[in-house]
Amino acid sequence: MIFPVFILFSTCLYHVAIAGRTCPQPDDLPFAVVTPLKTFYDPGEQIVYSCKPGYVSRGGIRRFTCPLTGMWPINTLKCTPRVCPFAGILENGNVRYTTFEYPNTISFSCNPGFYLNGTNSAKCTEEGKWSPELPVCAPITCPPPPVPKFGILKAHKPSSGNNSFYRDTAVLECLPHYAMFGNDTLTCTVHGNWTELPECREVKCPFPSRPDNGFVNYPAKHALYYKDKATFGCHETYKLDGPEEVECTEMGNWSSLPSCKASCKVSIKKAMVLYQGEKVKIQEQFKNGMMHGDKVSFFCKNKEKKCSYTEETRCIDGTLEIPKCFKEHSSLAFWKTNAWDMELC
Ligand SMILES: *[C@@H]1O[C@H](CO)[C@@H](O)[C@H](O)[C@H]1NC(C)=O
Ligand SMILES: *[C@@H]1O[C@H](CO)[C@@H](O)[C@H](O)[C@H]1NC(C)=O
Ligand SMILES: *[C@@H]1O[C@H](CO)[C@@H](O)[C@H](O)[C@H]1NC(C)=O
Ligand SMILES: *[C@@H]1O[C@H](CO)[C@@H](O)[C@H](O)[C@H]1NC(C)=O
Ligand SMILES: *[C@@H]1O[C@H](CO)[C@@H](O)[C@H](O)[C@H]1NC(C)=O
Repeated sequence: MIFPVFILFSTCLYHVAIAGRTCPQPDDLPFAVVTPLKTFYDPGEQIVYSCKPGYVSRGGIRRFTCPLTGMWPINTLKCTPRVCPFAGILENGNVRYTTFEYPNTISFSCNPGFYLNGTNSAKCTEEGKWSPELPVCAPITCPPPPVPKFGILKAHKPSSGNNSFYRDTAVLECLPHYAMFGNDTLTCTVHGNWTELPECREVKCPFPSRPDNGFVNYPAKHALYYKDKATFGCHETYKLDGPEEVECTEMGNWSSLPSCKASCKVSIKKAMVLYQGEKVKIQEQFKNGMMHGDKVSFFCKNKEKKCSYTEETRCIDGTLEIPKCFKEHSSLAFWKTNAWDMELC
């Protein structure tokens, strides 16, 4: 009868021993997983620690068996993130990053004049590779510049084959008789196109009419065009009011249309006046009349203070207004003092 008792006893004992020595749920390790994961393990059961995807350990996986003591051995497994290849430099651009480890993302931007060929960010994958692939900063280029109808390219140097780089310029010009509407300078933009093209339009000016008391010269042609010139002149004793040479503008009119202004007869018989800073005898200085625009200053008396002051007047198209304060003495009134002989007030 001993045998069955022994069996019973030893089974009992075995169960007691096992019940007291199960292993607890193993400690969490950063970035590692345990398989199988349970709340307790019987002695002899095995667990495996391995790193999560994207993390690696130097020694690889760790295998443990639950010992009879019920205490897991000390685990020295260390899972560290995978590191992607160095990507801290982008030629002609910038990289923003914290680290190159899984699962970080780095971002890219290009310097002015360059564009990002690729995506503006990349992620370090579980496999330790950048995804998507790293971009490059490629120079912005513009195709050869367009030329408007009736225009020509005046100055342009392609800097890359037939293409131009960002901020390169091209200068345009219109054919003779054509005026430009818009900017003559094209600039290669960040979009890889040129700034707005100007327009070349044919511009005609009417024949300028002859001024009264003068003449006008212009090219003997059927029509006068943008930039054509006309010159004006006046008959003797008349003075041109405006420039001698005028030009046909892009508005289709002349830059100016001068006229001829008459000279002034001097009605005063005798007086000293200021002319160009000098005291002159008006009747001698302007024997042949004053030209349009000529200025003189007459002397007038301040009777109370017994001194003189000056007042300016000007010949305007045949009319010289004598200042009211000026008094012309009869040549017989020799005892009167002339204003121009008195001291200035
Ligand atoms: C842009 O990148 C693609 C792929 O890397 C390449 O085939 C292409 O030539 C690049 N373009 C420029 C203008 O660099
Ligand atoms: C520039 O353009 C001309 C004419 O279209 C062509 O013959 C030449 O091969 C081009 N040069 C380059 C560098 O692309
Ligand atoms: C013409 O364009 C250039 C650049 O494209 C600019 O610098 C310049 O000021 C413009 N000129 C006028 C008159 O708008
Ligand atoms: C250049 O391209 C940009 C972007 O496509 C567009 O907005 C702009 O109007 C273009 N400029 C000209 C002058 O065509
Ligand atoms: C030419 O015509 C334009 C528009 O019609 C006008 O604004 C301008 O003043 C004219 N110029 C002259 C010198 O008459």
